Amino acid sequence: MTDTGIENLLQEERLFPPSDEFAAQANAGPELYTEASEDFVAYWRRQALERITWFKEPTEDLDDSNAPFFKWFADGELNISYNCLDRHLDAGGGKVAYHWIGEPGDRRTVTYQQLSDEVNRFANGLRSLGVEKGDRVAIYMGMVPELAVAMLACARIGAPHSVIFGGFSAQSIIDRVQDAEAKLLITADGAWRRGTVVPLKESCDEAMLSTPSIDHCIVYERTKQGVSMTQGRDIWWHDLVADQSTECEPEVMGAEDLLYILYTSGTTAKPKGIMHTTGGYITSAASTHSLVFDVKPESDVYWCAADIGWVTGHTYIVYGPLANHTTSVMYEGTPDYPEKDRLWSIIEEYGVTILYTAPTAIRAFMKWGAEYPERRDLSSLRLLGSVGEPINPEAWMWYHENIGSSNCPIVDTWWQTETGSIMISPLPGVTTTKPGSATKAMPGVSAEIVDQEGNRVSPGGGGFLTITKPWPAMLRSIYGDDERYVSTYWSQYPGRYFAGDGAKIDDDGYLWILGRVDDVMNVSGHRISTMEVESALVSHPAVAESAVVGATDSLTGQAIVAFVTLRGGFEESDGLNDELRKHVAVQIGPIAKPKSIIFTPDLPKTRSGKIMRRLLRDISENRDLGDITTLANADIVANIASQSEAQRKDA
Ligand code: WTA
Repeated sequence: MTDTGIENLLQEERLFPPSDEFAAQANAGPELYTEASEDFVAYWRRQALERITWFKEPTEDLDDSNAPFFKWFADGELNISYNCLDRHLDAGGGKVAYHWIGEPGDRRTVTYQQLSDEVNRFANGLRSLGVEKGDRVAIYMGMVPELAVAMLACARIGAPHSVIFGGFSAQSIIDRVQDAEAKLLITADGAWRRGTVVPLKESCDEAMLSTPSIDHCIVYERTKQGVSMTQGRDIWWHDLVADQSTECEPEVMGAEDLLYILYTSGTTAKPKGIMHTTGGYITSAASTHSLVFDVKPESDVYWCAADIGWVTGHTYIVYGPLANHTTSVMYEGTPDYPEKDRLWSIIEEYGVTILYTAPTAIRAFMKWGAEYPERRDLSSLRLLGSVGEPINPEAWMWYHENIGSSNCPIVDTWWQTETGSIMISPLPGVTTTKPGSATKAMPGVSAEIVDQEGNRVSPGGGGFLTITKPWPAMLRSIYGDDERYVSTYWSQYPGRYFAGDGAKIDDDGYLWILGRVDDVMNVSGHRISTMEVESALVSHPAVAESAVVGATDSLTGQAIVAFVTLRGGFEESDGLNDELRKHVAVQIGPIAKPKSIIFTPDLPKTRSGKIMRRLLRDISENRDLGDITTLANADIVANIASQSEAQRKDA
C-alpha cells in the first residue's frame, strides 16, 4: 500500500482519440497548452483582450501581492451586459439568444435585440426603485427567460445578484438574503414542475417576515394561480417595466467589482457566499465556453440543461453563451415530464448540436432505458458534456453510445462554484478521452495531486486535488468572511487552492476525480474512494446507479455498504446481491468488496443532483437523520432506512 492518500483501484483502458474531421474544425488547438505553459498570465491576458470588449483596457494583469486575495485586470473597465448584449446588436440583433420551452409546452423565441430591450427596461425599472451600484439583489425564480433578464439587468447597473435556486425553502431565502443584506427580491408567482405549481411568491412572503433589508419584491407573472401582493412593497414585473425605455446606460464597472454572490450549501455549516467579480470572470466564462464546447455562434444550437440557480447555469447558460453570441435552448421543467423522452424530443425539435448535462441525469436515463432516446432523432448532436459529479465509465459509455451515436466527443468538465469556470476538461478535437476521466487541466490552469503532507503524487497515485496558480474566474472571497475564505481553501496546503476533492493521476498524466474527500472510506487502513466502488458496480449490466459508504465496523474500521438502483428490466434477488459483490471484487480487488448491498429504487440527492452519502452513512450506522427536507427526494429515505434496518437484523 502506498501512503499517498487514496488508493488507485479502478483501471480503464478504453481510449477515444478525436476524429480528424472534428479536429480540423475545432476552436481549440494543441498550441494553447504550449502558449499557456510558457506564460499563463500572458495567456489569460490574450483571452481577456480578444474575447472581451473593454471600456478601458486593463494595463494590469495578475496582482498577487496580497495572496490569496488575488486580482485580475484590476484597472480595466467594462460592463458584462454590454458584452453579452450591446456589442452583438448591430450585426446580430435578430439572432436567437434563447429558444425557451415551458414545461406545459408553451414556447418563446427571444432574440438578442428582444433580450437587450427587456434587460434595459428592467434595469431602468430597478433604478426607478432606487437600486444603485453595489446594492445586492436576491433573485428567486424558475427557469424563465426573465431570470436571465434579471441577472443581466443587475449586471448592467452594477448591482450584484444573488440567485437562490427556485427549489429551495423559505428558510434558505432568509439565510441568503440576511447574509447579503439584499435590498430587493425578484421572484415569480410560481414555477411549473411536473405539472404542478411551485408557489415561489408564497415562499418569499414567508421569508420576507424575517428579511428587514428587503424594500421591494418584484413579481413576474408565470403561473397565474393568484398570489397576495403587499401594497407598497410588492410590484408586478409587467407594471414596473410598462413605461420604461429600452435604453439604459450601462454602469462602468471596474474589473474587480462584484458581479454576483452564489451560495454553496454545505451539508451542515452556514452556506458560503461565493464572490465572483467582473473582468476575470467574464474572460474565463467566454473563453472556456468557446474552447470546451467548440461553439460556433453561426450554426450551433447549444443546450446546457442545468438550472440557472447553480453556477453551471450562471456561467454556461447566461454569461458564457451570451458573451459568445450563442443560440441556446432553455427548458423550464424536468426531463421526465410529461414523458421520459422530453429532452430528446426537444433536441429533435430544435436540432440541438451541443448538450451539457450531469451524471445524475445520465444515470437516470440509463435507468429508464435506451428506448426513450431511440424514439427521437438525435443526429444533430455533435458534442456532449458532463458536469457535477464524477461520471462512472459505464455511464460515460452509455452517454457516448445512446445519445452521441458513438461519434460525439464527450467533455467531462471538473469545476466548482468557487472556480467560476471549467478547470479540468478535455479540449474537443485535441484531447484523447478516457471514459471517466476529466483528463487534464485547461490551458492556463495548473492542477496537481498531493498527498496528506502536500507532496506531489506521482503518476499511478491518488490524493488531494489542488490548484497551484490563480486563475481569472476564481472566487475572490466568501461574502463577509475573509477568514473563512482563507481557512477553507488556502490553509491545508500553503500556496495551493484546495476545495475538498480527491483525485488520482494515471501513467499518462490523466486526472481522475474521485469525489469529495469526506466521502473517502477507510477499510482496514486502505483509503478507498466511494466513487471507484460505485463505478465498478455501475459497470455491471444490471446496475444504473449506486452510492457507496463506509459504515463503522468493529473489525475493519469501516465496512463498505452499497446502495444500488437497478436498470429497467432487472429484479433484485439474493443471487444478484452475491453476484454484484463478487463483480466488485473482480473489477477492483477483494479489498473493495461490499459487505452488504441494499437495493433501492432511488438514492437521496441534493437539489442539484449530488448523492447525499453522508445521509446514507447515518442510515447505515442507525443515526438520527436530522432535517432532510432540503433533499430533492426526501420520501426515498424512509424506504432505504427500513431496508437497512432489516439487513442489520438479518446479520
Ligand atoms: C463535483 C459544479 C467529478 C466535485 C460545477 C466538485 C465533479 C463539486 C465534476 C462542485 C466532474 C463537479 N467530475 N466531480 N466533472 N464536476 N464535480 O460547486 O466534487 O455545484 O468539488 O459546481 O462537484 O460542485 P458545484
